This record gives sequence, C-alpha cells and structure tokens, in this order.
Amino acid sequence: MKAIRPQTAAAQLNQFSRSRPTLALVLGSGFQHALATMVIERRIPYAKLAGFPPVGVRGHTGELIFGQLAGTPVIGLSGRAHFYEGHAMDCVTFAIRALAEFGIRDLLLTNAAGGVNRRFRPGDFMVLSDHINLMGVNPLRGATVAGRPRFVDLTQVYDSQLNAMLREAGRAAKIKLRRGVYLAVSGPSYETPAEVRAFARLGADAVGMSTVPEAIVARQCGMRVAALSCITNLAAGLSPTPLSHAEVLATAERVQAAGANLLAAFAKYHGQTSLEGSNKHEA
Ligand code: HPA
Repeated sequence: MKAIRPQTAAAQLNQFSRSRPTLALVLGSGFQHALATMVIERRIPYAKLAGFPPVGVRGHTGELIFGQLAGTPVIGLSGRAHFYEGHAMDCVTFAIRALAEFGIRDLLLTNAAGGVNRRFRPGDFMVLSDHINLMGVNPLRGATVAGRPRFVDLTQVYDSQLNAMLREAGRAAKIKLRRGVYLAVSGPSYETPAEVRAFARLGADAVGMSTVPEAIVARQCGMRVAALSCITNLAAGLSPTPLSHAEVLATAERVQAAGANLLAAFAKYHGQTSLEGSNKHEA
C-alpha cells in the first residue's frame, strides 16, 4: 500500500478552515480541559483526516480543533497515538508532519508523567529542558524524507524563547513550574523501582511514554518546540502505593483547571510576541 503523505492531510486542513494559526498544542492527560476554554471554530475528527491515527486513551477524543485560545489562533490536537498501542513511529508522528506542512511553526507538546525527582509532587507541572530517549527506537529511522535532514541536531530540542513564554505564563497563572529532563520509555507497563532509581542517576526528573518522538520529528521539520508535563504520580518505588492509570487520571482531573490556565496564558503571550515579531518585520 502506498503511504499517505502528510501533504495530503495538510491540504485537507487548508480546505477545512480559512484560519492559519502558527501555534499548535498537543493536549495530553492533564491538559484536555484547555478545550473547554477555547473558542472553537471547527472540530475535525481524526477519522476525516488522511493518515491521522486512530486514538485509544480514555478522555482523548481524537480531534483536531481550529480555534482561539486567549485570543490567539491555535490548532489543538486532542488525542495522540502512542507507541505502546503498537503503532509504527510513522503513525505516532504523522500529525506533526502534517502540521509542519500546513505551516505550523511552534509546537507545544503536553503529557502526563511520573515524577522521578524526589522534590516533585503529584499535580506539579514541569517544563522540559531536555529529554532522554529510552523508547528503543528513533522516529527518524527509515527512508529519508525529501527536503528534511537525515541527521538532526538535538542540542537544543526545547526552544528557549518558547520556554521563556511558558515561565511567563506560569507567573501570570500563579502556577509554580518545575523544570527538568523527561525520560521516555515505550511502556505500557510502568517502570520497576530499580529502573526509576537508574533513571534518576541518568539525570531524569520525570518519566513518560510519549512526546519524545513528536519532539524529534518536529525538530526535523524545523519547528520550534516546547513541552510540558503534568506530574500525575510519583514514579514507581517513590510512593508507598502501587501505580495505577486511575491515579494518573485522577490527578490529571484534579489539576485540569490549572493546566488549562497555563496553556491559555502561554497562548496569550505567544500571540502577543508573534504580533510584536510581525510588526517588527513590517517596520
Ligand atoms: N511512568 C510512565 N509513564 C507515566 C507515568 C509513570 O509513572 N505516569 C504517567 N505516565
């Protein structure tokens, strides 16, 4: 079967909306509530977009949304394909390539993660300063992509300007932001306590099962990337109770208003800064 090209999905997006946002947000657990605060212009189920993945996690609807967040035009992605569901990396990262072809310049990835850093508490938010990819695969493995580099520099995956906007958003929304290194595993089992101790020694502050493939592909496409974790639980061995998906969902729900406020404040700063940038350009 011939692979679906991201350009096909991007052409569909062009038809679905006249809006041309430059910012996209991938909404993971803990950040879904941002949808409730968005002025929605158009919701498109992934099933209507060529090459978009089927989506499996509860609470994620599998929709691409055109709208405004705090007055800034954005695309929101509610639901993502995870590697642990058995999808190929091409599928996990397809939406990111489609967004790049559509003209999205800046990408904010969000996720739920376990806290490895002993200072972290469930309900904290962490801005990613860097990542460690222990998923066992690289999303760029395979055929070269026309017009995209083969060997992608990851010296600074997470953009300093976008991170500064996140810090500003944290101050405005009065939400304390942690900063740290996200370590990605394939899942879907949670880690053993020995793995979590090892990850701490490697320099990880949080562990999760997403985000890194999308961030790498976005960098290959030349996007600016930032990422935010909702620390939904203490990683294995750091808490007296066993881990459960129910705990992850319960924390995500408890802090959903804070997560949504943070994203709205970020979108607001992003809109203001982009405007300043474009004014400068015109001057
Ligand atoms: N480990 C891996 N992924 C996760 C966790 C965790 O503890 N919590 C939420 N996603």
